[in-house]
Amino acid sequence: MTNALAAAQDEAVPDFPMPRAAGCPFAPPPEMMKLHAEKPVSKVRLWDGSVHWLVTRYDDQRALYGDQRLSVDTGQPGFPFSNEAFRNSVTQAPPSFLNMDDPDHARIRRMVTGAFTIKRIEALRPAIQKMTDDLIDAMLAGPKPVDLVEAFSLALPSLVICALLGVPYEDHDFFQENSSVGLRRDAKREDVRAATISQLTYLQDQLDAKVTNPGEDLLSDIAARMDAGDLTRQEASMLGVLLLGAGHETSANMIALGVLALLEHPDQLAIVRDTDDQKVLADAADELLRYLTIVHMGQRRLALEDIEVGGQAIRAGEGIIIPGATGNWEADHFPEPERLDVTRNARRHMAFGFGIHQCLGQPLARLELQIAYQTLFRRIPTLRLATDIEKLPFKDDGLVYGVYEMPVTW
Ligand code: HEM
Repeated sequence: MTNALAAAQDEAVPDFPMPRAAGCPFAPPPEMMKLHAEKPVSKVRLWDGSVHWLVTRYDDQRALYGDQRLSVDTGQPGFPFSNEAFRNSVTQAPPSFLNMDDPDHARIRRMVTGAFTIKRIEALRPAIQKMTDDLIDAMLAGPKPVDLVEAFSLALPSLVICALLGVPYEDHDFFQENSSVGLRRDAKREDVRAATISQLTYLQDQLDAKVTNPGEDLLSDIAARMDAGDLTRQEASMLGVLLLGAGHETSANMIALGVLALLEHPDQLAIVRDTDDQKVLADAADELLRYLTIVHMGQRRLALEDIEVGGQAIRAGEGIIIPGATGNWEADHFPEPERLDVTRNARRHMAFGFGIHQCLGQPLARLELQIAYQTLFRRIPTLRLATDIEKLPFKDDGLVYGVYEMPVTW
């Protein structure tokens, strides 16, 4: 019994996360959808025995995202951590603005929003297209089968975020490895600490170099803010760590899993491959974001005051988990949600969260996905899995859902 809710043993409390059904790698766990239908605000037990609230309905989720009485501050007692590794990673590092409440969150976020406007991101289209084509050229020139995760879906977002930040791509193995340490379920405290220190040191060196020798990149802008005293040295480095980390793991999983979902739905794949209409392609990427909702451990919050959600009282100090997948599979908002329909308008999905912490990188992620899916299937029309889907290692244990590897051939 590790918190007040756990102490009130008035009912059987299910464990969270819940398992997905065998043979249904894309659907949210059935037990979670049952709660959504029958008890939309319910208690769940986490890995450490603590009990928190799971809020599963779309309207309640959206209301919570906009509620300033909730905190993302992982330093608050009772915060509902996804797993031990994640608790280790955030308690071993200074906070980034993802884990800060306003006004600090807004102060730091504001300094980088300019780089992620739709206009600025759209200007990257030719560069992202070239990176995509180059990776596909290399795949086509190499042996097959090839692991799509390694050869394409991890590489593309890494190349893009390195270019945006102005970090040498040759270093990507280093920070990819270090930023994924905290995402592993079995990560040890010492390993997370070492990885965090390495990342911070690396970013501090990069920032110092940009102060003396600035370029046309986002890290140079951040270095200038640091030099002007708008950001402390630690805030600037953590901002770099956040952007490097958030910018590749999520998009990478979304590319691989999206390709898999399209391969399993050839009629939908044909629409993505054949359209010359950017709007159709944009809708398709959003539908895949909705359908897959890869941040499957849910967004985590802590109530700072007593609130009421869907008729349920939640007390100050209690933790809240918002799993985007259940809201995104709600028939009132997305009719026949279990059907992948790339022609539907799914733009109001919550795969990027909502409210003040809504994903900063979403215009970039959307563009990467649109280019990646279409280019891959246009240039390799016979692309197919080189194994049975049942044999793929899915990331059921990760903070972000996806596949660890995905052998493909053509
Ligand atoms: C398909 C890819 C992506 C998905 C599914 C995704 C998902 C999310 C979600 C759900 C959140 C909200 C977390 C919360 O409310 O607690 C978030 C926040 C964030 N994302 Fe993404 N993301 C993606 C790609 C990116 C990219 C490419 C970047 C670029 C750097 C990025 C940067 C961020 C940042 C900085 C935040 C923190 C925003 C804040 O706290 O104000 N993300 N993302």
